[in-house]
Amino acid sequence: MDNRELIEKAKKAMENSYSPYSNFKVGACLLCSDGTIFTGCNIENGSYGATNCAERTAIFKAVSEGKRDFSKIAIVSSSGDLTFPCGICLQVMAEFMIDKEVILEDNNGDIKIFKVKELLPFAFNL
Ligand code: THU
Repeated sequence: MDNRELIEKAKKAMENSYSPYSNFKVGACLLCSDGTIFTGCNIENGSYGATNCAERTAIFKAVSEGKRDFSKIAIVSSSGDLTFPCGICLQVMAEFMIDKEVILEDNNGDIKIFKVKELLPFAFNL
């Protein structure tokens, strides 16, 4: 599955975003090394800290289904511009895919690629 397809699937997942508090929709599409994909959206809560980001929704869906080998993750938001994962999501990515890629789209429609370790160079590790 190429990066453009992953971005398009992330956009489709973003449609399910539950974000009445921020009005900021996020979608993610995670590609597993066996070719399966898991999508996610942000899910907000009136108790704001209970909010789950799109990236973690996708990763937790995958891990809960027995997948741990990931190739890349695409992330989009309603900003229409590059949306970098938050620190908590980067920490979760560091657990499962530190050497893998984060695929983003800028406001010109161009795809930009970053390594998780580039975005979180000194990740905490037990
Ligand atoms: N959000 C994500 O889904 N992923 C991120 O990496 C950063 C933030 C969501 C959480 C919240 O619903 C909204 O964006 C505004 O912070």
